[in-house]
Amino acid sequence: MRIDVLTLFPGMFTGPMDESILKRARAMGKLDLRIHNLRDFTHDRHRTVDDRPFGGGPGMVLKPEPIFEAVETLKAEGEEPWVILLSPAGRVFNQEIARTLAQRPRLLFICGSYEGVDERVRLVLANDELSIGDYVLTNGALAAMVIIDAVTRLLPGVLGDEASPLDESFSQGLLEYPQYTRPAEFRGLKVPEILLSGDHAAIAKWRAEQAWRRTAERRPDLWAKWLKDHPDALPTRREGQPGSKLGSNQESGPSRSDSPPPPGFVTEEKE
Ligand SMILES: C[S@@+](CC[C@H](N)C(=O)[O-])C[C@H]1O[C@@H](n2cnc3c(N)ncnc32)[C@H](O)[C@@H]1O
Repeated sequence: MRIDVLTLFPGMFTGPMDESILKRARAMGKLDLRIHNLRDFTHDRHRTVDDRPFGGGPGMVLKPEPIFEAVETLKAEGEEPWVILLSPAGRVFNQEIARTLAQRPRLLFICGSYEGVDERVRLVLANDELSIGDYVLTNGALAAMVIIDAVTRLLPGVLGDEASPLDESFSQGLLEYPQYTRPAEFRGLKVPEILLSGDHAAIAKWRAEQAWRRTAERRPDLWAKWLKDHPDALPTRREGQPGSKLGSNQESGPSRSDSPPPPGFVTEEKE
C-alpha cells in the first residue's frame, strides 16, 4: 500500500514510523510511506501556507492553494488515492474503518494545523474526514500516525502471526479477553487454572466468556451492538453450555473478580 501524508511537520513522523511493525512493513515493501511538507507546494518567498479567517476570529487557517496543488500533484503520480482529511469534526475512526482502509491500494492524508483547513479542501478534495477521538490535537500528524499504524498492521503479511489481528479487541466487535504469561503465580496472583489445563476447548470457552464479560462491563455501547448482531449467541448460565461460568467469577483471574454479571446475560439458573 502507498500512503502519502501532507503535513507542516514532517519531522514528527521520524521515529514513530521507523520502529516496530511500521519499520518492518516498510522494509518488507508492504508500506510505501511518503511524507510531504506542505510548504514545498507554495511559491512565495515566505512559503506561506496560512492566512487569517474570513469573518474574523482567532488563529490562522490553512490556505487552499498549496493543499490543492499538493493533492493534484500527488494524484498524478499513479493510482488514485483515497483522500482523508484529518479533523475533530470527522467521523470517529475505529477498527472497522481501519479494515476498510486496509483494502485500498493508496491513501493520502491531509493534516490540518492551527485553526484547521479552508472548507473548500473538505468540499472538493476529501473523500473522507476522520477524527481519532473527541479531543483537539495541535495538528493532524499524530492522528495520521495513529490511523497509519492501525491500518498497516492489517495489511496481509505484516504481522508475524496471520491470525492475530482476527483475535484482537474490536475485530469481532468485542474487547479482548485477559492475557497471562509466566510465571503462573506472581505476587500472590494466580493465573486462572483453566489456562494451565491444556484443554483447548475449555480455554476457548473461557476466553469467549471473558471477552463478553469485559465488553459488557466496560463498553455497554459495544456490548449492545454485539448482542443485536448475534441474537443467537446470547450466553446462558446453563451448565455445560457456552457462558455457563458467567457471573460465577471462579475463573476470571485477579481483576474485577467480584463484579456482578453484566447486563444482557441470561441468568435463568440463579437458584
Ligand atoms: C488545533 S486543530 C483545529 C481544531 C479546530 N479549530 C476545531 O475546533 O475543530 C488543528 C488540526 O489538528 C488536527 N486534529 C486535531 N484534533 C484532531 C482529532 N481529534 N482527530 C483528527 N485530527 C485532529 C486536524 O487536522 C486539525 O485541522
